[in-house]
Amino acid sequence: MRRGRGLHAAGAGPERYQGYGRGLRGISLAVLQALEDGLEKADADPSVKAVMICGENGKFSAGADIRGFSSPNRQGPSLAALVSLIESSKKPVVAAIEGIALGGGLEVALGCHYRVAHVKARMGLPEVTLGLLPGAEGTQRLPRLIGVPAALDMITTGKHISAHEALKLGLVDEVVEANTVEAAMHLANQVIGQPLGPRRLSLRPVPPLPDTDGFLRAARLRVRERARGCLAPELCVQAVRAATELPFSAGVRRERELFVELLSSGQARALQYAFFAERAVRRWSAPGGAASHGAAPRPLRSAAVIGLGTMGRGIVTCLVKANIPVVALEQNLEYLNVGRKAVMLLLEREAKKMEQDAQALDFHNPARLQFTVDFDLLRDVDLVIEAVFEDMALKKEIFHKLSRICKPEALLCTNTSALDIDEIASATSRPEQVIGTHFFSPAHVMRLLEIIYGRHTSPTAIATAMQLARALRKVGVVVGNCFGFVGNRMMFPYVEQAVFLLEEGSRPEEVDQVLEDFGFKIGPFRMSDLAGLDVGWRSRQGQGLTGPSVPAGTPARQRLGRRYSPLPDLLCESGRFGQKSGTGWYRYERAGGRTATPDPGVHSLLAQYRHTHGIRPRHIDQEEILERCLFALINEGFAILAEGIAAGPEHLDVIYINGYGWPRHRGGPMFYAATVGLPRVLARLQHHSQAHPDVPGLRPSAFLEKLVAMGNPPLKEWMSYLSQQSPRL
Ligand code: NAI
Repeated sequence: MRRGRGLHAAGAGPERYQGYGRGLRGISLAVLQALEDGLEKADADPSVKAVMICGENGKFSAGADIRGFSSPNRQGPSLAALVSLIESSKKPVVAAIEGIALGGGLEVALGCHYRVAHVKARMGLPEVTLGLLPGAEGTQRLPRLIGVPAALDMITTGKHISAHEALKLGLVDEVVEANTVEAAMHLANQVIGQPLGPRRLSLRPVPPLPDTDGFLRAARLRVRERARGCLAPELCVQAVRAATELPFSAGVRRERELFVELLSSGQARALQYAFFAERAVRRWSAPGGAASHGAAPRPLRSAAVIGLGTMGRGIVTCLVKANIPVVALEQNLEYLNVGRKAVMLLLEREAKKMEQDAQALDFHNPARLQFTVDFDLLRDVDLVIEAVFEDMALKKEIFHKLSRICKPEALLCTNTSALDIDEIASATSRPEQVIGTHFFSPAHVMRLLEIIYGRHTSPTAIATAMQLARALRKVGVVVGNCFGFVGNRMMFPYVEQAVFLLEEGSRPEEVDQVLEDFGFKIGPFRMSDLAGLDVGWRSRQGQGLTGPSVPAGTPARQRLGRRYSPLPDLLCESGRFGQKSGTGWYRYERAGGRTATPDPGVHSLLAQYRHTHGIRPRHIDQEEILERCLFALINEGFAILAEGIAAGPEHLDVIYINGYGWPRHRGGPMFYAATVGLPRVLARLQHHSQAHPDVPGLRPSAFLEKLVAMGNPPLKEWMSYLSQQSPRL
């Protein structure tokens, strides 16, 4: 056998992300051409007996160029033609899979007659995560190779599998620990002369199941439920169904139709935007010129977490999972024991999930995880994350202590949800080391880490917090300091509208349903019940909005000259704290229960409330519910951008997708606003604002007005309009 030079040299090359808008290198047209030329040459040359395809630099291929998906000259069909060409070769073709074989890369491997993988290789068809399906015949070949259940799992989730899993599934023929290319050539030499027919997947039948139709129907329901309005997983199921029902060539035509349908759905564009936005936010900048390119992080060799409540437990768990030794501290032994048990339980569960890597967690080793009530043990840690009660006086006391005890270069982080980072930092002698690291609940699961710099936070501190996000496998987003930062600040007007809608005539389950149909994982009332209604209640008491500090004679439904709803306070006053108490906006099977049932008690409370305040309930349609909740949230987003609290709309979108259950296939709130069209968002806000002049959250942001006046520029240009001062900004 001769190694086809063209094939090897131009073999499916590695994908390199070069950042937002600059493009990636994957299976480019040049690579396709070189593969085609090489194959033709090999076929024509009688001295070549077999062909081996491998990648460059230890990577088989990361697939097609994502930007190419949406261009008119996309590579789907031509890649498919190449895969067919490989399969129809008269000489055996062996894929040598090193590193990764993803998307189009794996489809190329499926066209080969044999596949050899390195033990560390990973394979997958991630197209679904970008709103597409494997469009180079992958949905037709994979089920023929590994059966419908395994193929569906890979195609509808986009998950990557290891070489060993691939071997178990029959996706590869051999897994090797040493040189994959040599092993592939060795295999090729062995199979020279053997019939290729049985190795051509397009000629094979899909292995039958006892009830293929029933299986596919159930799978379709399952993915539909999980996808919440995202089309791609469901169309993936349809494509696999085509493989089971149609001859190969007709199945391929169906795959192509479904691919084109997805491409033109708008969801693919939103998902691809989200993909690039997550990369864009890795770069950060802060006022004063600090930026990611000029700041190096400090090493993170050890950490401490203060407070082992809901958040602290999850934070300790992710630090241990990231192999960072942790000191976990509580206020007294009683709380420490409760916290320790909770952390151990979480870690046991995580270890079970991780299976073979469980040993690596090593959390019974005190050198890796230590529980204490003694602040002195924090002397040498590189990083402290405070997660005590949301109480400014308590946080300041703790930070004062930390600045006395910790080594000078230690990063001091607070997990506050909304409090002023500068005020917390003022309790220390080193405000440059203080930063907000806002985790989301459950902290060991949620991907978002909102990173909040204060007035004095140093670039090194920001870079180190971003490094922490990376170490914890989270998406870090750097934002400025204001009440509620970005995520919660945008959430306030959204939840406020949801409550106003109840006053005016809606029920909690109706509002939730509309927002869940839009694609949110849970609606605002289910979410509030989950988080605990007492949290917001305490915060409103602290702000003097409710409770004994409200001056006598204050109108029940007004605070500081603006509309206010005391409904959430009334619920708390009657002991309805949400899931934890078994009642909230819904009823639950017991305290701590998870199954929400509409509550007649809440319905009569609402009726009584409206009667007391002389509100005549009206029917509120879905459109009004959506517009008032979403546009109020988006409007706050424009205010945040105008104030320079976030560097761009991508930051807001990444926060909402990863921390607040915003449907990824809608690209985030600001992307959604761009899709709806800013003139429409503005017009509807104006309309609702006129109807509710006492609600500042509905008053259009000056920045939104300016963008509309400038002709509704595309999202990536929005920020450039901020520097051009208008008289209104
Ligand atoms: P929690 O009430 O569940 O836990 C707080 C823990 O801090 C308790 O275990 C308490 O014993 C401990 N603690 C209090 N004083 C202490 C002291 N002096 N020394 C050591 N430990 C002390 O509170 P949760 O929900 O975990 O919240 C913690 C922080 O995280 C708050 O600032 C909160 O606003 C924020 N946060 C909460 C989220 C949530 O969903 N619960 C989400 C994001 C942020």
